[in-house]
Amino acid sequence: MAECASEMNREAMAATAIAHPNIALVKYWGKRDVERNIPAVGSLSITLDGLTTTTRVQFDAELSEDSFVLGGREAPEMQQRVARCLDCIRERAGTSLHARVESWNDFPTAAGLASSASGFAALVVAADQALAVGLPRAELADLARRSSGSAARSLFGGFVELRLTPDDERPTEVRRILEPAQWPLRVAVAVTEAGPKAVGSTEGMLLTERTSPYFQAWVESSEGDLAEARSAVERGDFEALAEISESSCLKMHAVMLSARPGLVYWNGATVECIRRVRELRADGVPVFFTVDAGPQVKAVCLPEAFDRVAGELQAVPGVTNLLESGLGEGARAVNP
Ligand code: PMV
Repeated sequence: MAECASEMNREAMAATAIAHPNIALVKYWGKRDVERNIPAVGSLSITLDGLTTTTRVQFDAELSEDSFVLGGREAPEMQQRVARCLDCIRERAGTSLHARVESWNDFPTAAGLASSASGFAALVVAADQALAVGLPRAELADLARRSSGSAARSLFGGFVELRLTPDDERPTEVRRILEPAQWPLRVAVAVTEAGPKAVGSTEGMLLTERTSPYFQAWVESSEGDLAEARSAVERGDFEALAEISESSCLKMHAVMLSARPGLVYWNGATVECIRRVRELRADGVPVFFTVDAGPQVKAVCLPEAFDRVAGELQAVPGVTNLLESGLGEGARAVNP
C-alpha cells in the first residue's frame, strides 16, 4: 500500500511537454547582461510546427542530482544548464527535489536549427507541470530566456516578438503578434551540414561584442528593424517582411564576420541556397531566406510557392536534406 502511494506520488511529479523551434526574422545577437542572459537587442520570430522537441521531466525524492538524456544518450555537457533552468522552477515551487530529464529532437541538434530554443521551452513547461506550479506563460518565457535567449519565443506560437523593457526585474517581454492561422507561411529548411556548430552562440556573441567594430551599429539599428518587421507582419505585407528579414539576417552575419577571428557559420551550399532564393524572388516567387548560427538555410514563403521553393533548394549541390514546416503553436504539456 505504502509502495503504491509512493508510486502514485512519483507519477504525479512527472510531466511531458512538446515545443517547436522558432526562427528569428529580426535577429538577436549579443548580450546586454551575460550573467542574467539578457539579450542586447529585441527580436521577432516565427514558431515552426514541422520540428519538435519532446521532453519528459520526473522529479524524484530518491535522486541526489539532476540527470539529462538527449536522444537516448547521457548529455553531461548540457547537465549544468538544464539543472540551472530546473533551479528556477524549483525555487518557485519551494522544493529541492532533483529530476530525471529525457528529451528527444526529431531534427539535428545544435546545428543552427534552434534546438536550444525548443529544448528549454519544453523543459520549463514540463517542469512547471510536473511540480504543479502553474506559472503564467509570460513568466515561463522569462525563465526559459535565462537559459537560452531565443527559447522565450518558443513559449508562443505564430509570429512572436521579444522586446527589451526598462524594468530590471522583468527585462524582456514576449508576446504573440499573429496566430499561425492568420498568416500561414511555410518554411523549407535546406540542411547543408547536420553536425553541431563549431562556435556556440553565447561564445560567438561575446567574441563579437568584444572585437567587432560594427557591434554598436548593429545594436542601434535593431529597434528600427523590429518596428519595420512588426508593421509588415501586422499588415500581412510579404514583400516588406522579406526585405527586412533578409537585411537583418545579413547584418547579423556581417557583424559576426567582423569579429576577430571572424565567425563564418556558412558553407558553400549556404551561399548557393541564398543565391537561389534571391533568383526565385526576382522571378516573382514569394520567398525569402534567413540563416542563423549554422549553415542551414531557411526559406520562408507563401503556401502556394512551397513546392517550387523546396524543389529548387533540394537541387542545390550540397543540400543533404530538406525539412518542411508550417507555423506552429507555443510549448505545451501533453499526456505522457
Ligand atoms: O538563444 P541562443 O543563445 O541560441 O541564440 C540565438 C541566436 C540566433 O539564433 C543566431 C538568432 C536568433 O534570434 O534566434
